[in-house]
This record gives sequence, C-alpha cells and structure tokens, in this order.
Amino acid sequence: MTQRVAIIGAGPSGLAQLRAFQSAQAKGAEIPELVCFEKQSDWGGLWNYTWRTGLDEHGEPVHGSMYRYLWSNGPKECLEFADYTFEEHFGKPIASYPPREVLWDYIKGRVEKAGVRDYIRFNCPVRQVTYDANSGQFNVTAHDHNTDTLTTEVFDYVICASGHFSTPNVPEFPGFDHFGGRILHAHDFRDALEFKDKDILIVGASYSAEDIGSQCYKYGARSITSCYRSAPMNYKWPKNWEEKPALESVDVDHAYFADGSHKKIDAIILCTGYLHHFPFLEESLRLKTNNRLWPLNLYKGVVWEDNPKLFYLGMQDQWYTFNMFDAQAWYVRDILLGRIPLPDQASMRADSQAWRERELQLTHAKEMYEYQGAYIQELIEATDYPTFDIAGVNRTFLEWKHHKKENIMTFRDYSYTSLMTGTPSPAHHTPWLDALDDSMEAYLADTPLNTKTRKAS
Ligand SMILES: Cc1cc2nc3c(=O)[nH]c(=O)nc-3n(C[C@H](O)[C@H](O)[C@H](O)COP(=O)(O)OP(=O)(O)OC[C@H]3O[C@@H](n4cnc5c(N)ncnc54)[C@H](O)[C@@H]3O)c2cc1C
Ligand SMILES: NC(=O)c1ccc[n+]([C@@H]2O[C@H](COP(=O)([O-])OP(=O)(O)OC[C@H]3O[C@@H](n4cnc5c(N)ncnc54)[C@H](OP(=O)(O)O)[C@@H]3O)[C@@H](O)[C@H]2O)c1
Repeated sequence: MTQRVAIIGAGPSGLAQLRAFQSAQAKGAEIPELVCFEKQSDWGGLWNYTWRTGLDEHGEPVHGSMYRYLWSNGPKECLEFADYTFEEHFGKPIASYPPREVLWDYIKGRVEKAGVRDYIRFNCPVRQVTYDANSGQFNVTAHDHNTDTLTTEVFDYVICASGHFSTPNVPEFPGFDHFGGRILHAHDFRDALEFKDKDILIVGASYSAEDIGSQCYKYGARSITSCYRSAPMNYKWPKNWEEKPALESVDVDHAYFADGSHKKIDAIILCTGYLHHFPFLEESLRLKTNNRLWPLNLYKGVVWEDNPKLFYLGMQDQWYTFNMFDAQAWYVRDILLGRIPLPDQASMRADSQAWRERELQLTHAKEMYEYQGAYIQELIEATDYPTFDIAGVNRTFLEWKHHKKENIMTFRDYSYTSLMTGTPSPAHHTPWLDALDDSMEAYLADTPLNTKTRKAS
C-alpha cells in the first residue's frame, strides 16, 4: 500500500520537502502520498507577510514575525537554492540584499515551477499528532478552517516543518505593569513608522535587536537605546543610538540599567528571541531545545531519534537557511525512499553527541558558519542535491561580517558573486538607508523609482 507522509508547514522548509519529492519523481522515482498542512492561507511561511498581530482571522496565533520594511539580513548569495538560481527566477542578476517581498517571490517561483501547490491544504492548522505503537502509524488531527471541520487521518511518517521563530520569548522586567508606553515583542513589530519621533528601548542584542533598531533609525525614531544581557553588539552606531548593559527596571517613562544609568523612553521592543513550540505534538515526539546549532535527539539534524518515523526540518539556529533546508529535505526524502539506511538508535545518538561536542567548542562566528556548512556538506554528499561551493558561501559570510563591522547602516550596499552561477551581483541603485520604498517593483527597477526616497536632512 502507498505510504502516507504528513508535512506540517508550507514555509521554506516544508516547500523544500515538496520540491525534493517532486524532483525525485521527475527522475522516475515512485514517491509516497504527500499531504502538507499549512495553517496560513498562502505558502512561504514567515516570508508570507501579514499586517496581523495576535490572533488571525480564524482565532489562530499569528505565525508571522516579519515586518514591513524587512530586507534580507545576510547576502542572498548565502541562501541561494542550488537548483533554482536568482538569475533564473528574475531573468537577470539582482543586488545582494533583497527586501522580503522579493525573497518571497523567489521562494514561490521554484515551487510554482515544480507544480507542488496541490499537495498543500491551506487554512489547516495541525492540532494534534499522536503515535500508535501498535499500528506503527501516526494520527494527525487538523482543523480545516475552510469547512470548519476537525479530521483525523493516519500517516506512516510525519515531517515537522512548522518553524521556530514565531512563538515569542517574553521576559518581564520590574515596572512593566506601570510603564506608560507600548511594550511589544519583535514578533508583533510591523511598521517602523509607528516609532517615528519616539525614544525607543530595544531589549536584546541579536539580529532582531540590530535590525529593528536599524529600521526605527531609518524611518525616523528620535533615539534608540539597546541593552544587552550577555554581550554588546558593539557596532558603530549612529549618534542617536546608545548601547547599554542589562535592563533592571522601568517606571512610567524611564528605563534603568545595570550600570546605574537611566533614560527616558516612549516604547519598549523586546527583541528577546523565540521558543521552539510544538503544542500539537504529543510529549514523546516533542523537540525541546533552545535556539542553537545542534539540538539533541535529531540524528543528522533531522531524524527524531526516539522515533525515526518523525522528522524535523529547519530547527537549528540559522546561519545558512534556504539551502540548508534543501539539504535536510533531500536527506529526509532519501531516507523515506529507502536510499539512505538509518543506523540503530545508539549509533544515531553517538553521532549527534559528537556534533554537539563540536558545537560546544565553537566560540567565533566564523567557526559557527563553517560548522553549519560542514553539516550541510555531509547531507548533500549523501543525496543528489546539486553540490555547491560551501567554502565560497563561508567566504561570503566572512565578507558580510566585515561589512557589518565597518558600518551597520551601509553593509547592505555591498554586492557579492553568486556561488551557483559565478555571476557578480550588481550594486543596488539606492543605498539601503535611503530606500524607503522597499516594494519589489522599486527594488528590481534599474534606476530609482521616483516615489519615496529619504527626505534631505
Ligand atoms: C524577523 C525574521 C527575519 C528573518 N530574516 C531572514 C533573512 O533575512 N534571511 C534568511 O535567510 N532567513 C531569515 N529568517 C529566518 C527564517 O527562519 C527562515 O528564512 C525561514 O522562514 C524558515 O523557514 P521554515 O519553513 O523552517 O519556517 P517558517 O518560515 O516559520 O514556516 C513555517 C510554516 O509552518 C506553518 N505552521 C506552523 N504551525 C503549524 C501548524 N500547527 N499546522 C500547520 N502549519 C503550521 C506556518 O504557518 C508557516 O507557514 C528570519 C526570521 C525572522 C523571524
Ligand atoms: N532582517 C532580517 O533578516 C532579520 C531581522 C530580525 C531577525 N532575523 C532572524 O530572526 C531570527 C531570530 O533572531 P532574534 O534576534 O529574534 O533571536 P535570537 O538570535 O535568538 O536572539 C535573542 C536575543 O534575546 C536576548 N534575550 C533573551 N532573553 C532575554 C532576557 N530575558 N533579557 C535580555 N535579553 C534576552 C538574547 O540574549 P543572550 O545573548 O544574553 O542570550 C539574544 O540577544 C534569526 O535567525 C535572525 O537571522 C532576521
């Protein structure tokens, strides 16, 4: 009988899985029956932008954490699909830091070409996944909001690709219940114009802190104060951006820091990261980890060692993104097609433990992306995913880090060379700081569209 595979989520990871199976089928392989459950009304995961926050139109927690003016925070050359290049999609080389809408278009282009949309059931959040040890199968219960019905179906395998940057980690600080302005988590941040002429406090010192602070600067915040728990970001900030040590407390309109200083603030944005959150998986199937490069219990980063009929995609902290999800999806596909045998549980655990021990030795960013690159290399060598120049991607990451250190407000003005096609990417027509119109039309134009540009100051 045909095996049935449930894929949870149609973001970049779930879509990589559909594309992996379609690619095998196109080369003559017989593939299992695939059902991809997606809780949103369209595909693309986080890249499918929504203005909504809180609950969606069906009362579901909003998945989206992306904001209006988000541009890629790393060079697109580091995430390019090896089987579908930017040049193929856009018909010409484009600059290196595309805004969200452009990347969403690229993600969609590959799966539209592959013709996999019919596998997806939209508006269908998975509510529960249980494993029946007697039958050796999973019961997957999903709520179809199109018909408002709850149904349970049986599957032989489950692939969880539901993302892990959606459920906010929300710490509380003394005085929050008396603060007179808005307190929000990055997950609910949408439009930087809300903070024009405001003094904002950013809590956190990672990508969201750096990027949301930069957005607010770009769109006219009066001042930005960011504060760190472990270590400062240490970039060369603009004059109206100050970095402080840990937040200790707030009152109605001031924040107080560990060095004894304080500042007047109008709003607080908690850029304090996200939780791996899988309320729909029964306890024995649930991955529990913080955001790190090697979560345990995942052989080769994807196989649930306690029950190797369950797989997770994209659960690592991410230097590499789209092409890592591809490497994982091709690997999982080949396990399911019987092309890659799995060792016994003890061997899987030993392999994971060895990766974890290597992870614990990493101290510098360079070591971290090289580690993730080595992991991807290992997966790719086991499948027919097109080989690509991982050392070249690592070199591009290194240049990117240098450009950020040089100037955090101009690093997006650099361009790099595609590791897939060898084509140098052109410079963008407008410096990032001046490009207030981040529409796809404006970004792809050869010269600036005469719409919104930064007012002279
Ligand atoms: C603010 C922000 C900016 C980012 N910017 C970049 C960037 O510039 N470059 C980059 O490479 N990466 C970036 N990332 C990283 C991002 O994680 C990846 O690019 C990518 O979106 C991860 O894909 P995914 O499919 O694993 O998860 P997601 O994109 O989160 O997709 C998961 C999908 O699963 C669905 N889902 C969740 N739960 C259920 C359920 N119970 N039932 C059915 N469906 C469900 C969701 O609706 C969603 O469509 C960013 C992340 C954030 C939060
Ligand atoms: N433009 C873009 O492309 C863009 C923009 C934003 C985000 N992203 C992506 O989104 C993902 C998530 O990034 P993220 O920055 O949200 O999460 P993250 O990388 O997990 O960082 C979380 C931050 O929150 C801090 N933190 C956690 N709990 C805290 C507490 N109680 N008090 C003070 N600080 C606390 C952490 O500090 P410690 O270091 O002390 O733990 C860390 O600095 C990344 O993959 C990133 O690339 C991309």
